[in-house]
Amino acid sequence: MEIKIIENTKDIQCDVLVVSKFEGKETSNPLLNRFAPETFTGKKGQTFLIHTQNEYPSTYILGLGLGKAGALDNSTITESVAKAVKKCVEIKAKSIAFDIDTNFAYEVALVIGVSIANYHFDKYKNKKEHRISEIYLSNVAPEGVNAAKTISDSIKLARNLANEPAAFATPSKLAEIAQGLEGLETVIYDEPKIRELGMGAYLAVAQGSTQPPKFIHMKYIPQNPKKRIAIIGKGLCFDSGGLDIKPASSMLTMKHDMSGAAAVLGVMKAIGKIRPDVEVHGIIAACENMPSGASYKPGDILTAKNGKTIEVDNTDAEGRLTLADALCYACELGVDEIIDIATLTGACIVALGTATSGIMGNNDEFVKDIIETGKYSGEKFWQLPMWQEYRDNMDSDVADMKNTGTRNGGASAAGMFLKEFVTDDVKWAHLDVAGTAFMDKPYKEFIKGATGVGVRTILNYIAAII
Ligand code: BES
Ligand code: MG
Ligand code: ZN
Repeated sequence: MEIKIIENTKDIQCDVLVVSKFEGKETSNPLLNRFAPETFTGKKGQTFLIHTQNEYPSTYILGLGLGKAGALDNSTITESVAKAVKKCVEIKAKSIAFDIDTNFAYEVALVIGVSIANYHFDKYKNKKEHRISEIYLSNVAPEGVNAAKTISDSIKLARNLANEPAAFATPSKLAEIAQGLEGLETVIYDEPKIRELGMGAYLAVAQGSTQPPKFIHMKYIPQNPKKRIAIIGKGLCFDSGGLDIKPASSMLTMKHDMSGAAAVLGVMKAIGKIRPDVEVHGIIAACENMPSGASYKPGDILTAKNGKTIEVDNTDAEGRLTLADALCYACELGVDEIIDIATLTGACIVALGTATSGIMGNNDEFVKDIIETGKYSGEKFWQLPMWQEYRDNMDSDVADMKNTGTRNGGASAAGMFLKEFVTDDVKWAHLDVAGTAFMDKPYKEFIKGATGVGVRTILNYIAAII
């Protein structure tokens, strides 16, 4: 999709001219006065589409409600614009111009909205989906548009990888993609090195699969960084549950159990381009969780990188085992902050649904910062508790802990498990995106499938792009 910045979008010949209106505010826009039906009040997300019958340079006018002027924010723009784009796609429009009337710097949120709504995963389809090919904007900052393109490309990479079948997006493939990202220094550790590093929990998960594990460490190291941060993505390229195998319906979408890793790859792609004054480490302990004669078993006792021992209570609680070793590794780097992002627990979906990701951590200020950045970026996070009680029922008779407790409060229990592998000198936040990473039907600006959740928030947190 091409984005053209022009002097005035109003008179451009294109398929659709999108004209915005605020709710309850008189508009002086002559186009709205001429074409809008009386029922068009400007309510958030409201649209009307009218053919201009050659009375105007654009073939159609699409009115777009942005809600109350005082409540306008980035997510309103992203979601509303996405809605407009979907309408344009319905009539097979190719070119759209935007006449957005606000003094809010809306271009980043707008371009992200257009690109999210214009996304399709049709690589494997012979008949391709219709896409918008050109958009026209005026009165926007080119730097904003460029920043939005960078974020959009990162979201797209994350969505593509999570939508890919597990047969394509293997641990080796993720490693290959990481190595291809520009502006970063990337190292990949294979099994012998992972063993040497003492990552016994991660290796146990990986051992049942014929796909070899790949530990991926992408580094972006500027001179005199303002701070040092690690982002860790859960990289389960397929989660069958292992010997504690999942029922068919739960296994169906488990190709996306590497959505956290996909988000980290997306973020690192942008970091290599933006080159912020922050040292950033992107870390993925990639593997598959499969049942076989070589699989790890319930009752096995594993030793993580920090020496703590774990009794395997359930082989389907595998993500926390891979993250445990990745967290130890990140702490040893001596970073100031760690953010991990993981499709970790079904319990988080039960608690928060598909609109909101869970967030937990060892520092409330840090967690709040990320929640606020999320609000600003159009992604919702809700803090879940980290009380000792959630840890108590993971006590084991034969090891330092078990990998599961009771089902109830499972997202917090998983958070407390991860905390065992984080040293106190580092600020750490854990994002549970089990409910938000993959939609089983179209939702807001997203089609069915991967959403790339986390990319916008983490990028804005690190690089303050918007
Ligand atoms: N990958 C799943 C969590 C998940 C479920 C993500 C649904 C996205 C959608 C995770 O590895 C898992 O299986 N968790 C178990 C943990 C349980 C055994 C303690 C779960 O949530 O059931
Ligand atoms: Mg599992
Ligand atoms: Zn999993």
